[in-house]
Amino acid sequence: MTEIIEAIKRSALRISKAIVEEEFGYEGSINTCGEEQLKLDVLSDKIIEEELFKASSIKKIASEEKSEETQFHEDGKYLVAYDPLDGSSLVDVNLSVGSIFGIYEKTWSGKNLVASAYIVYGPRVELVVATVKAERFILRNGEFEFMQELQLEQKGKLNAPGATQKYWYPHHKALVESLFQEGYRLRYSGGMVPDLHQILVKGGGLFSYPGTEDKPQGKLRKLFEVFPFANIYEKAGGEAIDATGRRLLELNCNSLHETTPCFFGSHYEVAKVKEYYAKKA
Ligand code: AHG
Ligand code: MN
Ligand code: MN
Ligand code: MN
Repeated sequence: MTEIIEAIKRSALRISKAIVEEEFGYEGSINTCGEEQLKLDVLSDKIIEEELFKASSIKKIASEEKSEETQFHEDGKYLVAYDPLDGSSLVDVNLSVGSIFGIYEKTWSGKNLVASAYIVYGPRVELVVATVKAERFILRNGEFEFMQELQLEQKGKLNAPGATQKYWYPHHKALVESLFQEGYRLRYSGGMVPDLHQILVKGGGLFSYPGTEDKPQGKLRKLFEVFPFANIYEKAGGEAIDATGRRLLELNCNSLHETTPCFFGSHYEVAKVKEYYAKKA
């Protein structure tokens, strides 16, 4: 596992440099999710693939930017799924973006996720790794220095309501309204990594990417985005559920790019999701 974390750190150094120095623009191709690929999506994917390949413990990889999995080392123990550049469309407006990694054993499923990590490329570069605990590191002088163990409060104060409000189902509207009435501060940049990082670091709250009329199964992908953050939120003392109230890490994944509605947060806020979604206004 250590060699995989080291590969993630090397990737972070290279991608943070590429974000600043490489040219922007579109690659002129579409990924499996039907998204136009940015040059930086493809470059970040290539960097991570190169660095992960150096870890002999990896049997195969799967990427948001690749339609199929890629075989690595025959007798490797781990399967690594990653989103090479999350929120990539925010780079050209100079907002924070990230990379997300899920480390699995045997099969691609929530139950078999054994560790996860993400990198935030913002005013600073940070790394959060969740094996037993959720630990935060900051990049200083080319090295990742340990900062703190992340711990969510029972009840937080930030709300990232997710998705495009126009398509919210009434029960999601009612949930968001109830949090607004309780004085939660709205924090939504449209980048999953900084939006979830902020809630983790600032003591808690709720991040939602719900099912909507236009995307009933949500937009965020189980293997590359949802399961990795579900693990991190649980290791930080929080919860991560789907729209039926099930633990996200209990879900299977029948195809590499499968999505699910997802809610990540402190216990109090996740209980409210269950309350409003059970009512289904
Ligand atoms: P990606 O850039 O890897 O495709 O992911 C973007 C995701 C995620 O970062 C964010 O939470 C979500 O897109 C925002 O979606 P909307 O633009 O529909 O709000
Ligand atoms: Mn994308
Ligand atoms: Mn993403
Ligand atoms: Mn992405």
